[in-house]
Amino acid sequence: MPELNKLLKDVEVPGTRQMANRVARMPESIDLTLGQPDFPTPQSIRDRVMEAVGDQPMKYSHNRGTIELRTAIANFYKNKYGADYDAADEVIVTNGGSEALDTIFRTIVNPNDEIIMPAPIYTGYAPIASMLGAKTVLVDTTDTDFVPTAEKIEAAITDKTKAVLLNYPNNPTGAIYPEETIESLVKLFEKHDIFVIVDEMYSENTLDGEHYSFTSYPEIKDKLLAVNGLSKSHAMTGWRIGWLLGSAEMVEKLTLVHLYNTLCASMPSQVAALEALTGALDAPVEMNAAYVERRDYIYRRLVDMGLDVVLPKGAFYIFPSIRKYNESSSDFAIELLETAQVAVVPGAAFSEYGEGHIRISFATSMENLEAAADRLERFLSRKSEE
Ligand SMILES: Cc1ncc(COP(=O)(O)O)c(C=O)c1O
Repeated sequence: MPELNKLLKDVEVPGTRQMANRVARMPESIDLTLGQPDFPTPQSIRDRVMEAVGDQPMKYSHNRGTIELRTAIANFYKNKYGADYDAADEVIVTNGGSEALDTIFRTIVNPNDEIIMPAPIYTGYAPIASMLGAKTVLVDTTDTDFVPTAEKIEAAITDKTKAVLLNYPNNPTGAIYPEETIESLVKLFEKHDIFVIVDEMYSENTLDGEHYSFTSYPEIKDKLLAVNGLSKSHAMTGWRIGWLLGSAEMVEKLTLVHLYNTLCASMPSQVAALEALTGALDAPVEMNAAYVERRDYIYRRLVDMGLDVVLPKGAFYIFPSIRKYNESSSDFAIELLETAQVAVVPGAAFSEYGEGHIRISFATSMENLEAAADRLERFLSRKSEE
């Protein structure tokens, strides 16, 4: 085989998928690795698409997406966060949040640049940075309940820093950022000539309190690149619709990278997204009620098992510590799967600061959670007797 891109050398299948692939071969196990809602896409969205596919030609849209959808996205930010984004020049509809992130990285990053990321961190970012020859600089949040502080971020900034990337509600920890944290970070970012990338993919799955968005702060609009989408909020992972927001100057450049990659997001999915952001804006409310019930249940069970765990206030993951069992999270997860038939993701999949933890997804039925908690409890008591 001719030589491949050298930068691919260190890139692997993410730990989340590795575990999901392993569990697919074990049908008797209970799968708590899932990073997607267990609900169907709301009916009105599916109906709208069926109609549209029947009577519209489904050609390419504008590279940035249909103006109707971009307007709905801009309105969403205006109504929710008081943010001013111009639908024509400051919004791009992408193939999921993933393509938005890829577009941002490829627009701003040069080899040897540093990107600061509070960790534990979602598996999707560092590989994109490394494929571009950039370096990920992790900031440990394990001693501050998984919320970074402005002091910690500032200490990581160097003259090579190109961007800080923040994700909240956080995958894998479920942490949300309090308003004071956002405000102190905004003050920090005002002082530095760096980009601020925010991945708010779980903003609509805030389970306690409120989601505060950096888009509410015009003072950093020129450096802010905000990513969101419908995969989680509207149970639309397979539809592949996300978006990014930025200043008009940045969106002009981002559009070039996006258009040479994909021309435009899929048209039937753009129709679906327009319905999600107009007719089905409240869809997450019902799903969140179920997530809260499951979250409270699994949190209580983990506490009763004697595990050290932070109550997640957003997303649909919980991230207990398994440090007291003195083994790697990967060994722990494999043993749990093979001997107790419960699949979770080893914390190490989310960087070295995730080590010593496991990620449990509660995007699954209460019945599954109850059975999995019973199995985990028996597994842990056998372990304590060893
Ligand atoms: C934090 C975070 N960002 C982005 C994504 C990717 O989202 P999408 O399915 O819209 O590409 C995920 C998916 O799990 C995620 O957890």
